[in-house]
Amino acid sequence: MADVRNTQQPQPVRLAEYTPPAYVVDTVDLHFELGEEWTSVHARLAVRANPDRAEPGALFLNGREMELLEVAVDGRPWPETDYELNEESLTLHGVPEHFTLEITTSIRPQENTALEGLYKSSGTFCTQCEPEGFRRITYFPDRSDVMARYTTTIVADAERYPVLLSNGNRIGAGTLPGGRHWVQWEDPHPKPSYLFALVAGDLARVSDAFTTLSGREVALHIYVEHGNEDKVDHAMRSLKAAMAWDETAYGRECDLDVYQVVAVEDFNMGAMENKGLNIFNTSAILAKPETATDADFQRIEAIIGHEYFHNWSGNRVTLRDWFQLSLKEGFTVFREQQFAGDRYSAPVQRIEDVRRLRTAQFPEDDGPTAHPVRPDSYIEISNFYTPTVYEKGAEVIRMMYNLLGAEDFRRGTDLYFQRHDGQAVTTEEFARALEDASERDLSQFRLWYTQAGTPRIHVDGDYDPEAGTYTLHMRQEIPETPGQRQKEPMHIPIAVGLLDGDGNGLAPRLTGEGERAETTRMLELREAEQSFTFSGIPEEPVPSLLRSFSAPVRLEFGYRDEDLAFLLANDEDLFNRWEAGQELARRALFRAMTAYRSGAEIELEGTLVDAFGALLRGGTGDKALVAEALTQPDESYLADLMDWPVDPEAIHHARRSIRVRLAQALRDDFLYNYRAHQADGEYSADPEAIARRRLKNLSLAYLVAGGDEAGIEAAREQFRQATNMTDRLGALRPMVAEDVAGTGGALESFYEQWKDEAEVVDKWFAIQASSPVYGTLDRIKALLDHPAFNHKNPNKVRAVLGAFARGNPYRFHAADGTAYAFFADQVLHMDGINPQMAAALARGFSRFRRYDEERQRLMREQLERIRREPQLSRDTFEIVTKSLG
Ligand code: PHE
Ligand code: ZN
Repeated sequence: MADVRNTQQPQPVRLAEYTPPAYVVDTVDLHFELGEEWTSVHARLAVRANPDRAEPGALFLNGREMELLEVAVDGRPWPETDYELNEESLTLHGVPEHFTLEITTSIRPQENTALEGLYKSSGTFCTQCEPEGFRRITYFPDRSDVMARYTTTIVADAERYPVLLSNGNRIGAGTLPGGRHWVQWEDPHPKPSYLFALVAGDLARVSDAFTTLSGREVALHIYVEHGNEDKVDHAMRSLKAAMAWDETAYGRECDLDVYQVVAVEDFNMGAMENKGLNIFNTSAILAKPETATDADFQRIEAIIGHEYFHNWSGNRVTLRDWFQLSLKEGFTVFREQQFAGDRYSAPVQRIEDVRRLRTAQFPEDDGPTAHPVRPDSYIEISNFYTPTVYEKGAEVIRMMYNLLGAEDFRRGTDLYFQRHDGQAVTTEEFARALEDASERDLSQFRLWYTQAGTPRIHVDGDYDPEAGTYTLHMRQEIPETPGQRQKEPMHIPIAVGLLDGDGNGLAPRLTGEGERAETTRMLELREAEQSFTFSGIPEEPVPSLLRSFSAPVRLEFGYRDEDLAFLLANDEDLFNRWEAGQELARRALFRAMTAYRSGAEIELEGTLVDAFGALLRGGTGDKALVAEALTQPDESYLADLMDWPVDPEAIHHARRSIRVRLAQALRDDFLYNYRAHQADGEYSADPEAIARRRLKNLSLAYLVAGGDEAGIEAAREQFRQATNMTDRLGALRPMVAEDVAGTGGALESFYEQWKDEAEVVDKWFAIQASSPVYGTLDRIKALLDHPAFNHKNPNKVRAVLGAFARGNPYRFHAADGTAYAFFADQVLHMDGINPQMAAALARGFSRFRRYDEERQRLMREQLERIRREPQLSRDTFEIVTKSLG
């Protein structure tokens, strides 16, 4: 079955051209006959002209990759002369005001490798309808502002597919001749088509229940492949925690009788919030200590929370159109981050969120695919599930939280949910509800939705000892982005503290204000240039700026190294302690790069060693924070910080030398920490245990990097003896990174031990693909030939090709361009299988202009070669043409 390909140039869809639907659908009755070669879908819709539209005219239905068998209106076949059918739609002319529409289609889920619509994942039928998958199941007005009540009947072979699921409540079941059976589901909540779901397979079920605040009993079922029942405990516990959290944090109760979650192997994303029937990538749900790391446990909790929170932010209140995607995603990511911060540690969570924003979103915002949080045009909406819509979108919500304060923010979200329950709305309605509840004016703030680009804020400090005042002069600049030349100044919350010489926080008050108690002041920058003067300042303070990263900006202040060490040791804002440490490390890395490029010896200055040494010797007591502080910024983040041209070799060598030198200078401290934080007793995923393992394994990694014999022996030993995956990988990773003797054998035995656990095999692939030693081009090719690799499984593609492009810039950007040519072949190959995955890979080339002229030429050549492909998907076409600019 061929995809719809760009025989003509694909045309963009524009927000400015939005019009309400001509017809609405009140009910949808679906009848599926699932078969081994094809599946038939009969849909009966109650359609009525939209009263909001004067002249409804023709009925337009989306549809692709299907065979149309029958169309009937009010029980009579609709004459072919009165409809138009093409590759992407079916249009009916002259339909009545309201009527029953019946459509029968035939589809081939077995051949669907794009993983949109109905497809098969290792023997299980499942669906993915967001954003535009439903139109691959039946002809339908497949847009989020058409909300209907669904009833679904599934008929299938009883032995192969004993479990038949859809949204809502099970209202009937029975057996049929020929070994077939049927189940019927009814979803009482009106929903857009993108939240429809169906699953049919032979699955095991793990059940529990949750009682809501008002006493509703919700049955909880998690479905997995037989044999995986022992890997759902953590997800189930996380789900109940998320349900309880949403009640207290947002006053949101679950509205369902049954909440079902299904794990599937082949999935383009992490998970999907289908109403009452979430579908999860196995990697985002299955965990037990032997096979999953602490990071996996935390990720699973976050994603389970994320999908659950969508039940209100996304499902009860949904989107008018796809330009509003961040309305649900930004808000839900923010809710997920708050949840995770409450469950573990708020500052550590913040550090991880910011790290993700900086490594994924900042580069996007600074490149050819930059777009606003609310984009105003797209060629393929699947390309807009981006760090900007998700992560920057969450930052936009967080800034409103910072501006309003917790109480008014909550009043605002209460009003938003109450006012728009059951509606399909825009980001405007969200901002309006917050304004109405808080009586704040967010008009200038709305620019965060429409202006792309990461603002740069330059700050200078000025102390006047005579007057006892301290002034911060700020200047904001928003860089040019594609299609956006001129930018207006933004409304930016900047949390500031001032430290006295002993490291104590002052209680800063602006000139003219009365005494204050708080040591953090939320400044509101609104002008292109603006100054803030604080009074009653007895001595020149050290400012702590942008506390807890109160806005997604790049802030510059001329700190001396000593100031950074001082902040690292003293700031009450734990995020900014980490930030000061990162800036010190960044400076050391950039000095090392300069040295490397001029052929000089790379030296490590005392300030960084002393500051990190003090941390390791227990200044803070917060193990997780110490581990975060000592974690090096990764190579791709350093590339983003580097002035043109990015030099992947200098980055790699400088980063490595700094690691080795730190390891040697602080060897005793690392050894002490490694020994002091050994495991005792059974595995637990509580914050204290996670922090302990983190610091232990970080210490081990440094010991190995420093070439310390005792450390290397400890790693080998830990690799063999570990009883959980965190410790096993905590040993294997540094062994691979430093290629210590015995690593090859360790990799082999690792595979032998875990070859039946798909999630673990993915880790095994990714460790090698992202290693400069084990991820050379020849070895990457060998990994693709490995029997466990499969181009049709997105997790495998991410583990090898994704990890290579993103996690191994040193090899990916090999100066001779051989990796580029190989990678372009892979993009083209993937494009014939799964356009979404191909487009994601193609982004590996999108920042080619950041590199030297020769690499630019080589990458451009590959981009042009991909673009010339006549059958290219819309997904890949958009990324490639935008990259070429
Ligand atoms: N809406 C999903 C989420 O963020 C992500 C997703 C998008 C999944 C598109 C599949 C397809 O929770
Ligand atoms: Zn989401």
